[in-house]
Amino acid sequence: MTTEHGTTSRTARGTDLQQAARDHLWMHFTRHSVYEEGGHVPTIVRGEGHKIWDDTGREYIDGLAGLFVVQVGHGRTELAETALKQAEKLAFFPIWSYAHPAAIELAERLAAGAPGDLNRVFFTTGGGEAVESAWKLAKQYFKLTGKPKKHKVISRSIAYHGTPHGALSITGLPPLKEDFEPLVPGAHKVSNTNIYRASEDLRDDPKAFGRWAADRIAEAIEFEGPDTVAAVFLEPVQNAGGCFPPPPGYFERVREICDEYDVLLVSDEVICAFGRIGSMFACEDFGYTPDIITCAKGMTSGYSPIGAMIASDRLFEPYKSGTNSFAHGYTFGGHPVSAAVALANLDIFEREGLNAHVKENAPAFRRTLERLLDLPIVGDVRGEGYFYGIELVKDKATRETFNAAESESMLRGYLSKALFDAGLYCRADDRGDPVVQLAPPLTIGQAEFDDIEQRLRTVLTEAPNHL
Ligand SMILES: Cc1ncc(COP(=O)(O)O)c(C=O)c1O
Repeated sequence: MTTEHGTTSRTARGTDLQQAARDHLWMHFTRHSVYEEGGHVPTIVRGEGHKIWDDTGREYIDGLAGLFVVQVGHGRTELAETALKQAEKLAFFPIWSYAHPAAIELAERLAAGAPGDLNRVFFTTGGGEAVESAWKLAKQYFKLTGKPKKHKVISRSIAYHGTPHGALSITGLPPLKEDFEPLVPGAHKVSNTNIYRASEDLRDDPKAFGRWAADRIAEAIEFEGPDTVAAVFLEPVQNAGGCFPPPPGYFERVREICDEYDVLLVSDEVICAFGRIGSMFACEDFGYTPDIITCAKGMTSGYSPIGAMIASDRLFEPYKSGTNSFAHGYTFGGHPVSAAVALANLDIFEREGLNAHVKENAPAFRRTLERLLDLPIVGDVRGEGYFYGIELVKDKATRETFNAAESESMLRGYLSKALFDAGLYCRADDRGDPVVQLAPPLTIGQAEFDDIEQRLRTVLTEAPNHL
């Protein structure tokens, strides 16, 4: 049944769509108790550019590009048509010992865009699988090259790297992990690059802080034993915790450490690749060459799912001879429709100069959001490119954060809903300290930055009354 907004209010079986959602849909990372009590399930039915509409006809700014995904914006007919054409021609074939042209062409294009000799592309269906694949590759690579004890990994506190058991072990968020223990052993955590929360002697000296934070990785490798550590997993800009960019010199020092101890550097770019920071791969933005890139989300702007692990020539070398093979794969990895859509998506990036657009406009986006620093609740605005976190604090002078109960009542009890009601879909998150996060489609400019700032201002001004 179609409503006056042109949306469907009933399922094909005739049930009320909301009721069917409450009865059957298991939403991810969702507290379903609200819906058990009859709450309205926010249901998005349409998108166009940077706007989305819900089932009641209300319009929102998509301030999170879906989930850090829809880089080129919603409603791109050419991507839908590409999917149709590919499905008509060859809807499915695996890349298990066989190939198809779309996967071949996409692999070549990603390799061309990746730095250094990262020339070998292993496709997955998403980011967590790419991270999982990278850890497995690191383990097997060292077994094949005479360092069989190297199997451990190092990553950073509060960082999110996905939900498969391996990727979840790499994730640095204890509350997400404890119900699924025991996880994969050998995953160790070090400090992240949250300079806002750095010790007082380091917070005003980004270079010294960067050196300190990078050296924590060397320390962990020493503690664990260099001959047991296979890889370090780092995001170019860490998402969870609210956008921690790397301090100057950080990745340069990390690269040195990895080379010194023969530990692989994995750049987890599931969020940061494909223009989020302003380049195809964000390691370019920060001037380092990793051994592996993991990526997904923006590769197709979400018009079809795909992910990838891109490995250096060195890592592929052992697989070129004898009976060796990477005994790992996914039925839908490198799906023909997704690969074709990714190529068309990258065509849009080039034709519309989206990366240059991000680089040009990012400073204005930051400046616009920094206007919010005049509010007593806004402690910090940080990020890079089209990727920002706004940290909320109880006391700006002391940087005191909210306790768990206050954070719960402000974020879940007020902010998430109030932002949505104000027509801004974004993320209010307290996996670290409470933050509001923004990662809109890469097409927007000053008019939309202003609009976002105004909506945030209205809601954040009210927030202290909802502790
Ligand atoms: C840095 C990072 N790695 C891995 C993942 C997992 O990706 P997916 O949800 O596609 O499995 C995410 C998801 O947000 C991520 O941000």
